Amino acid sequence: MSHLLVTGGAGFIGANFVHYWETQHPGDTITVLDVLTYAGNRANLAGARAAFIQGDIRDTALVEGLLGDRNIDTIVHFAAESHVDRSIHGPAAFIDTNVLGTLSLLTAARSVWLSGEAKPHRFHHVSTDEVYGSLGPDDPAFSETTAYAPNSPYSASKAASDHLVRAWHHTYGLAVTTSNCSNNYGPFQFPEKLIPLFLINALHGRPLPIYGDGMQIRDWLHVEDHCRGIEAVLHKGRVGETYCIGGGAELPNITVIDTLCAAVDAAFAADRTLATRFPEAAAAQGRPTASLKITVTDRPGHDRRYAIDETRARDELGYAPARDFTTGFAATLAWYLGNESWWRGVLDGSYRDWVATNYNVR
Ligand code: NAD
Ligand code: DAU
Repeated sequence: MSHLLVTGGAGFIGANFVHYWETQHPGDTITVLDVLTYAGNRANLAGARAAFIQGDIRDTALVEGLLGDRNIDTIVHFAAESHVDRSIHGPAAFIDTNVLGTLSLLTAARSVWLSGEAKPHRFHHVSTDEVYGSLGPDDPAFSETTAYAPNSPYSASKAASDHLVRAWHHTYGLAVTTSNCSNNYGPFQFPEKLIPLFLINALHGRPLPIYGDGMQIRDWLHVEDHCRGIEAVLHKGRVGETYCIGGGAELPNITVIDTLCAAVDAAFAADRTLATRFPEAAAAQGRPTASLKITVTDRPGHDRRYAIDETRARDELGYAPARDFTTGFAATLAWYLGNESWWRGVLDGSYRDWVATNYNVR
């Protein structure tokens, strides 16, 4: 039986991880530590048994107390500022949370787990493929040996946190693992990221703002496959190692967007009630959703291509994504259509301010 502390567990991937873990490992206990920024949402944890603590990972004393009082033996660290566009507009928060927040967690973990007689423990750090920078069209995919070359304030802050985690292992002997994974999609994703933003814009008949030429490539990973990958690292990963986790679905943005538009059109054609529920949608007015596509100024420093070589995760952990993009996307569309109250709740909150002020949402 394990006792997990899941940081950022009210965010997109963290919440999916809590639900996944509770299903797979019903004997374990989970404590979620989340400060509830604009991206954190208690509703994401509806139905979960996990204890919820609203607090900041930068509060080292709080974390030390939780680790000791709850006999925590495993930290799964998701908490972060996670959106590249926000990091371009306001980088300081990314350094505060992603770098100083990770330092605080490492400090607490070292003090509780390694002072005196060392306790069995694991610190798993959830990171991103963006730390490796941008690939040319013919470059080999990122692997665990690719040199770090972060290009955005977000990826620079995640790279810094990866280095801290590595150093706490080599210097102090903290039992760490790190996973660097590709673009996730699925339930509970905050509608500032490409797929939920475009889905919700499409349902409102709002423009779909494509950055630059739309030919940037990402490797799309269903969030449940990411959770399975983290589970595999926790159970079979070597301490001190990093593992790249991908979806095996390298796609240009424009392909993702065209898939989304066609899927929305097909959903409206198959279910007449959608036109009543979403009368502003192009699909409700006899126009193709693709007519909402517009081209906008490119993201500054926009990485061109990400791709993951997951040989190590496959060979050492037996990891392989279970869902291809077609299946995963269809399930995601169905989830957003079936959980309108969830995303309306999100829209009623801080998202409104973001809509009003951000150039990429119209
Ligand atoms: P998210 O923005 O949806 O959620 C982040 C969560 O962290 C929120 O619940 C927020 O309230 C919480 N949080 C932020 N600052 C905090 C603090 N100081 N103390 C406690 N909680 C705090 O992010 P996500 O998309 O779920 O990403 C989770 C992790 O996975 C991040 O570390 C991110 O870098 C990494 N990652 C994400 C993706 C992706 O595609 N979304 C891909 C690879 C890696
Ligand atoms: O690769 C992993 C990373 O994936 C994670 O570490 C990040 O936390 C996560 O946000 C994601 O970063 P991206 O920048 O790739 O994701 P985003 O959804 O913001 O954008 C995906 C692609 O779509 C990217 O090339 C930019 C483009 N885009 C995005 C938005 C929001 C658009 O063309 N228009 C948009 O409005």
